Amino acid sequence: MLDQSADGYVTEDGRQIGGVLMEMRNITLKFGGVTAIENISFDIREGEIRAIIGPNGAGKSSMLNVISGFYVPSEGEVWFRGARRPQLKPYQVARQGIARTFQNIALFHGMSTLDNIMTGRMTLMKSSIGAQAIWKGAAEREETEHREAVEKIIDFLEIQAIRKTPVGRLPYGLQKRVELGRALAAEPKLLLLDEPMAGMNVEEKEDMSRFILDVNDEFGTTIALIEHDMGVVMDLSDRVVVMDYGKKIGDGTPDEVRGNQAVIDAYLGVSHD
Ligand SMILES: Nc1ncnc2c1ncn2[C@@H]1O[C@H](COP(=O)(O)OP(=O)(O)OP(=O)(O)O)[C@@H](O)[C@H]1O
Ligand SMILES: [Mg+2]
Repeated sequence: MLDQSADGYVTEDGRQIGGVLMEMRNITLKFGGVTAIENISFDIREGEIRAIIGPNGAGKSSMLNVISGFYVPSEGEVWFRGARRPQLKPYQVARQGIARTFQNIALFHGMSTLDNIMTGRMTLMKSSIGAQAIWKGAAEREETEHREAVEKIIDFLEIQAIRKTPVGRLPYGLQKRVELGRALAAEPKLLLLDEPMAGMNVEEKEDMSRFILDVNDEFGTTIALIEHDMGVVMDLSDRVVVMDYGKKIGDGTPDEVRGNQAVIDAYLGVSHD
């Protein structure tokens, strides 16, 4: 049992997890008559790999969309780095160091792998068009820095062979990897992954799992991910939030949630009353 009241904890595999990075407090999200999220609280610790699981329609993507600023909660508070976050636009949330991938891949199909990953640098670009015109030197230096950062990501994700290929021509598994690359290009503090392994075969899942672990290990990136494959969730994550019909029904280590009766019932499709 983890001591969740402490500032940090050491994982089973010996990694030091820090204090609270992001905290959702009593979040409710309604779409007309549908309550997608009902009064959910949980936190994400610095350096942690945090999974959000639950059956279809449980509200998992909606929760990620609240974190990334795509949805504004009907009630509740979002706290990031010790401060309550005011209502922000998605690009402002991105500037705070939160990057994401989407459940349905959202890449520019006609553009190359390299150029798609480059779009991930946008939030970090300082020179405005005007500044570029006045002071060409600074803009060129910045451009070189961005290119180098993108090349590093391409090496890291082992996709050198497809750097010039339009992503629309790539198999699905590689598109998912390019999308991860685009999110990494923003050098996020917190990385949100919505079903990064959906539709992949076993080998592709193993590759993606390894990249997720390496991102966490090498860059110290905190990761929140939604995933349906329980084997993957159990292998990757330090703590798991379980959602069902918009409610939180479990929260703890993989072992704890696996033994939780409410979680077992939700997954076995036992009727709810
Ligand atoms: N933009 C929206 N407008 C109206 N209803 C929405 C919207 N987004 C989500 N919902 C509803 O909110 C509920 C939760 O949906 P959500 O996509 O968050 O679930 P999920 O857990 O990600 O499911 P899945 O595993 O199928 O991806 C569903 O009932 C869905 O129909
Ligand atoms: Mg979803």
